[in-house]
Amino acid sequence: MYKWEKSAQLLQENERWISGGIVSLNRKSEPNICFNTGRGSRVFDVDGNEYIDYQAGFAASFLGHNDADVNEAVAKTLTNNSVLMGAGPTTLEGEFAQLFCQCVPTVESIQITTTGSEATYHAIRIARAVTKRDHIIVIQGGYNGWHNDVSCNVISALDDIGERVSPGEYPYDSSSAGVPSSHSSLVHIINYNDLESVKYVLKRYEIAAIILEPILQNIGIVKPQEGYLEGLRSLADAHGFLLIFDEVKTGFRHALGGYQSICKIQPDLSTFGKAVANGYPLGVIGGKRKYMDYFAHPDKKERVLIAGTFNAFPLTTAAAIATLKKLSSPAADVYGHVFKLGAILEEGLNDIFKSTGRPYYVARQGSAFCTYFMDHAPVDFHDILNNHDFKYDNQYRRKLIEQGIFNFPLPIKQGSISYAHTENDIAITLEKTKNVVASI
Ligand SMILES: Cc1ncc(COP(=O)(O)O)c(C=O)c1O
Repeated sequence: MYKWEKSAQLLQENERWISGGIVSLNRKSEPNICFNTGRGSRVFDVDGNEYIDYQAGFAASFLGHNDADVNEAVAKTLTNNSVLMGAGPTTLEGEFAQLFCQCVPTVESIQITTTGSEATYHAIRIARAVTKRDHIIVIQGGYNGWHNDVSCNVISALDDIGERVSPGEYPYDSSSAGVPSSHSSLVHIINYNDLESVKYVLKRYEIAAIILEPILQNIGIVKPQEGYLEGLRSLADAHGFLLIFDEVKTGFRHALGGYQSICKIQPDLSTFGKAVANGYPLGVIGGKRKYMDYFAHPDKKERVLIAGTFNAFPLTTAAAIATLKKLSSPAADVYGHVFKLGAILEEGLNDIFKSTGRPYYVARQGSAFCTYFMDHAPVDFHDILNNHDFKYDNQYRRKLIEQGIFNFPLPIKQGSISYAHTENDIAITLEKTKNVVASI
């Protein structure tokens, strides 16, 4: 039986000095486990427990924890005394940018930030500067960061957002106090996979952009229906707003060229983070040059400000270069490996749940997965709120953790397989899952 006495003690101690006891309070969960080491597919907590990890630092650690090649690049940069100068260009940022644009050919130029939230912030700002419009559309159940434009309806309860309205828009249920109402009135929230709602909003407001995860991966794995992303592209072209793909989660995890290379839709701007530097903090905003060049617009009144003392921090940038090189390596065959493991896991989970008589649906895209306790693939967040068995999901996750399989203990959170996982890890996971399902 797993115990978390030291973890609980640590939380209590930290509460004296950290508001809420934990940095970034979306990490707070039940149980609250304090992890102190990660190696490959495994993480270890302060109580000495070991887990096969599918949380992967909120999907950032795609190669696995403490990847040797990434660590080596970081160590080399450290010993080469690459320092943060904050003046002039650097060879590291140039090397990374070139590599990035080669990996994601739909992106013509980039800027580098420290987090995904900064990248989405800048993408929206560019869209407003380009279109000279203020209103934006975001997606119910999507997550695009913490800032005023997008910190809305983050896994909100049905009571807060209300039943489905279609076509239509939903109230901005801010996940943060302190967002000015003048700001939230500019943000229109609609359901995913619902083009009619986009048209509804377009009739009423001058829209600068729609920002969305091309697959909703902050409420599991909700895939675009046929024609949806194409429809958004056509509407953007017809109405002159920018289509922004937030690929912070989908980028690099599903393909070197981002999910846009799979769905073959070119957004105007895209944002990346997480897997791009295998757990080191780096965000990217990239896209069509005519839009990206607003950062360097010759007319000062048109220019979009981008700044950040730590942008393209040398150690982080070195980690990102090493990550992209490994992801591009045919010898490493990262994608072949993780997709194979994903398929084995999906098949095994289907076999286990088939015999329970319980409604379920195993959703997967490559190495990312989520088991829903409902009888069909979810179409949008309302579909999940109305049909998913949240109580069972909670129990399921808790019991898996007690068996040494770590998925974040919050219903509908997506799991991530890394390159460091092995077929044996998946076999152990399935065995433990079988026990857990039998015990609930
Ligand atoms: C799709 C998506 N966009 C943006 C972000 C924000 O990135 P960050 O946490 O690096 O600010 C996240 C984080 O989970 C995300 O999942």
